Amino acid sequence: MTSEKVSALLNSQINKEFFSAYLYLDFANYFMDQGLEGFANWYKIQAQEERDHALLFMQYMQNNNVKVTLSGIEDPSRSYTSNMDPLKMGLEHEIFVTNSINAIYEAAFEVKDYRTMQFLDWFVKEQGEEETNADNLIKKMDLFGNDSKGLYMLDQELGARVYSAPSLVL
Ligand code: FEO
Repeated sequence: MTSEKVSALLNSQINKEFFSAYLYLDFANYFMDQGLEGFANWYKIQAQEERDHALLFMQYMQNNNVKVTLSGIEDPSRSYTSNMDPLKMGLEHEIFVTNSINAIYEAAFEVKDYRTMQFLDWFVKEQGEEETNADNLIKKMDLFGNDSKGLYMLDQELGARVYSAPSLVL
């Protein structure tokens, strides 16, 4: 149904999405240690979304009889010197994921794999939203994070985030 190159890229995307979940759990873990439970909540929910993304790639491959091979997930633990560090790493990571999705799209386009392109459309849009969210978080932290009251309010705001299942159903 698709090329070996597209299949391999789809397969490696599963690992990248699970790694994203793992990385965001490391951020959540850091914020718990800082007593910032709202930030931790925000990244835990982000991790749930990343797990959903991984499962969507896996389901798409299985629906199309493309073999799935799971492999080890890289160690996500990082050292953070400030509350801003995870936020900046998060944006950098989302840009990396966007580039990865774009590379699959390009490979699918080359072999006229319209079905995969259509599947990826949802992710192209999702990546735009994720980059915006990560960037907004950095801006808010820049504005309010240096003052303890501002940081408290921001933590409260992020603590209100609730998980919702992805809108893409396969
Ligand atoms: Fe699934 Fe945030 O990339």
